[in-house]
Amino acid sequence: MPEPDARLTATPTDGPVGAFVSGVDLSRPLDPATATALHTALGDYGVLFFRDQDITPEQHIAFAQALAPIVINRFFTPVAEHPQIAEMRKEADQKNNIGGAWHADHSYDEIPATGSILVARELPPTGGDTLFASMYAAYDSLPEATRAQIDGARALHSSRHVFGAGAAHLTDTENNDQGDRYRNPEAATQDVWHPVVIRHPISGRKALYVNPDFTVRIDGLPEDESAALLEELFAHARRPEHIYRFVWAPGSIAFWDNRATWHLALNDYHGHRRLMHRITLEGVALSG
Ligand code: OGA
Ligand code: MN
Repeated sequence: MPEPDARLTATPTDGPVGAFVSGVDLSRPLDPATATALHTALGDYGVLFFRDQDITPEQHIAFAQALAPIVINRFFTPVAEHPQIAEMRKEADQKNNIGGAWHADHSYDEIPATGSILVARELPPTGGDTLFASMYAAYDSLPEATRAQIDGARALHSSRHVFGAGAAHLTDTENNDQGDRYRNPEAATQDVWHPVVIRHPISGRKALYVNPDFTVRIDGLPEDESAALLEELFAHARRPEHIYRFVWAPGSIAFWDNRATWHLALNDYHGHRRLMHRITLEGVALSG
């Protein structure tokens, strides 16, 4: 196998998740060995951050395709002329942002997307950071009794309440400033069971795989016990010691793994525009 680009280095953040990758110019074609090295680093660190990149939408697409086939998100409005790129935009006069609650993208799919490559296009003067939480650290730090309770269990994930016909962005007419962000509510009709604890497909490590946005119940428990256990797991996972806060700058790119992390977009820059471009990569079926 060819050697990866010798200059590629992944330097862990000072937090529990993520690494900064340097030595790779994402505007240039990615060689297969470097793509493999990035996949391995993604599995190890959960999210890879790049600084000072300058890429066009076409180069964003080419980078993604060198890593995996692209998944077109059926609910987000795409960037004009680039159906492969989802637009994550908050205008100066909008109140709500996209991704402002803890979540892992696409967990409502039978074969959930690996993760996404998010490119900063326009940033507010300050604020608009993204939080990432490690689901490896969340699992590893659970009490032994809780781990015993959830190993082998499965949970139901759904997109109905977030993107479907009854979702808040469609029904909340008073506060509705969601603009033209979302589409295809009729496609939010499927639900899927996934293991509560997965073996990460790249690293082989155990990770907690439930998230506050899309996970709606745990199999085999009465509704109230299921809700209580989910809330216990969510509260544990979002503890500060599991979180890294990424501060964007022009030229920043984040490439995260939805199986090893959650993320949350902070909404603290009212009166300013923030525009990001997201491409999502195809994943694999998950197992415990
Ligand atoms: C996303 C998302 C976070 C952000 O693109 O899936 O949640 O900080 N974005 O924009
Ligand atoms: Mn997201």
